[in-house]
Amino acid sequence: MIRVAILGSTGSVGRSTLDVIQRHPNRFEVVALAANQAVELLAEQVRKHKPGVAVLSKENGLGRRDDLPPARWSEGREALLEITEAPNVDVVVNAMVGSAGLEPTLRTLKAGKRLALANKESLVAGGRLVVEAAEEGGGELIPVDSEHSAILQCLEGYEMSAVSRLVLTASGGPFRGWSREQLQDVPPSRALNHPTWAMGAKITVDSATLANKALEVIEAHFLYGIDYDSLGVVVHPQSIVHSFVEFVDGSVLAQLGFPTMELPILYAMSYPERVPDGVLQTFDPVKASPLVFEEVDRDTFTLFSLGERAGREGGTSPAVYNAANEVAVEAYLKEDLQFPGMGEIVSEALDRLGGKPVSNLENVLEVDKEAREVSRELIRLLKRKA
Ligand SMILES: NC(=O)c1ccc[n+]([C@@H]2O[C@H](COP(=O)([O-])OP(=O)(O)OC[C@H]3O[C@@H](n4cnc5c(N)ncnc54)[C@H](OP(=O)(O)O)[C@@H]3O)[C@@H](O)[C@H]2O)c1
Repeated sequence: MIRVAILGSTGSVGRSTLDVIQRHPNRFEVVALAANQAVELLAEQVRKHKPGVAVLSKENGLGRRDDLPPARWSEGREALLEITEAPNVDVVVNAMVGSAGLEPTLRTLKAGKRLALANKESLVAGGRLVVEAAEEGGGELIPVDSEHSAILQCLEGYEMSAVSRLVLTASGGPFRGWSREQLQDVPPSRALNHPTWAMGAKITVDSATLANKALEVIEAHFLYGIDYDSLGVVVHPQSIVHSFVEFVDGSVLAQLGFPTMELPILYAMSYPERVPDGVLQTFDPVKASPLVFEEVDRDTFTLFSLGERAGREGGTSPAVYNAANEVAVEAYLKEDLQFPGMGEIVSEALDRLGGKPVSNLENVLEVDKEAREVSRELIRLLKRKA
């Protein structure tokens, strides 16, 4: 029995993880669930899945509840972090959103556990620190992102020395083919309408700006230890091919499937074993046809180019890029910022704070905080001007 803790169980990936686990009661057991503040949904999940531990990260999130289902309930960030080190947890699924997931990522890996990582922001912000935490603690870092899961599956049995290039696919989001002028006034409701994936709000906006793909490029750099010159991205609107691995002999492997997060979630928990799962749709190549591939429009989707720049610059840049992007997305969703404004904020934050060395978690947390402050100030100035 694999004992699983889910951080961010009330979100899109968290809920899909619970659905997968429910289909495999003889293989997986839910031992702990954590969310930020969604107490009602968390209580419902506890009633259904009966974990021993339930945590709300937000202080005072529980209020004075006397109707919560049986579990060891607690609140606050330290309680969430304790889950990562609990002796009865084998796999931590980090399905939180944002760089708030960084410390749980580090603690899980240092504790020598398997980390099924959906929270790409933690790897982008933490970078080498995350890789070092895994080396130090012996933890296993297994991606949940469908593109990185595809790469992991294609790499099975090969050393990275046999690989010449990784190519991530991008759906292109709802604004594929649009011009900068068309994007000027696009409202959040349009950005939230993704053509192929149903996801949480932040990643859906990131998919519309292609920031998500830039985050994934940085994620792939750290996961697979591959340099940026050997990392490509291609737009593939059907989201059927989840990524390509090109080998030194010129051969290319890809992993395919209809879009569902349940497969990469299951694989991250069971890796390297493949678990029979009848619920997932049988693959029909005719239904999947035709498969289309296009270049990324770097001039229009500036957040993609900025993310590539941040990755290549290294040091503080990926953490600044991530934090400024989180603030910009939040402001866009509140209609405090226009769509192109997100790129402007991130660009300015990178110019001011990027490219400096980082050596420890305190540096990363400090630069994350600074980048948020700078970005909020820039948004206030833009609003005043408007
Ligand atoms: N959705 C997808 O299909 C997909 C695919 C690939 C990768 N990812 C990645 O997976 C992560 C989660 O995405 P999502 O779409 O599932 O997001 P989501 O639906 O917005 O869910 C986010 C989850 O994180 C929790 N959370 C937020 N801040 C927290 C904090 N400070 N402490 C503890 N929990 C916190 C939320 O709790 P509350 O409900 O209480 O706010 C919620 O459970 C992101 O990094 C995303 O990039 C998602």
